[in-house]
Amino acid sequence: MRLDKILANQGFGSRKDVKKYIKKGKVQIDGKTIKDSSFHVDPKESEIVVNGQVLDYRDYIYIMMNKPKGVISATEDHVETCVTDLLDKFYRPFSLFPVGRLDKDTVGLLLLTNDGELAHRLLSPQKHVEKTYEAHIEGYVTDQDVEAFKQGVELDDGYVTKPADLIIAEAGDISYVRVVITEGKFHQIKRMFASLGHKVVELERLQMGSLVLDDQLERGDYRELTEEEIQQLQAH
Ligand code: URA
Repeated sequence: MRLDKILANQGFGSRKDVKKYIKKGKVQIDGKTIKDSSFHVDPKESEIVVNGQVLDYRDYIYIMMNKPKGVISATEDHVETCVTDLLDKFYRPFSLFPVGRLDKDTVGLLLLTNDGELAHRLLSPQKHVEKTYEAHIEGYVTDQDVEAFKQGVELDDGYVTKPADLIIAEAGDISYVRVVITEGKFHQIKRMFASLGHKVVELERLQMGSLVLDDQLERGDYRELTEEEIQQLQAH
């Protein structure tokens, strides 16, 4: 791959910016200064040093975000703020996208990556990847609701959901519950509760497969996954 393309893809700036860098002699490949932007190099085989720092070349980026309210799970929109708008501009060249969607008013764990294969596996209905949510529900949630979730709930369009776990932490005028589902139908949890006569007032995702929301992340914050988290996700 061309040297300028590699550096631009890795977030070092536009093609024009990196060409300037290279021309100034700020880039070494396997110990030799290279001033030719069109120089071809295999970034996985050679050591590329930029401004004295060894390039940590990555094909894929994996980010855990604690999604705040008011942003949509998309990459581009003319009106709304998208989750990708919250990322540092360093990540722009990687074309990251959210793995699945959280509603605009849902908060919590959202994975962003450019690894299409992993995203496909995590979202595949055949894989039954568990997603865990905490929710505040208007009205008393009962053992009958728990049983209905276990049996599968008929949604407004006639679809019957796969068995889901509903755990009541506290029942009251507002009930506090935990829900585990293995599907990702549009507004699924809200529609499941609506079918049983309840309204979801707050919804937060805590876990997706092996990936657990880092409680050190404030809403709107994000971090890259650790090697261990990536490996665990790859095993799905
Ligand atoms: N279920 C919903 O209703 N909304 C979400 O954002 C996620 C699951």
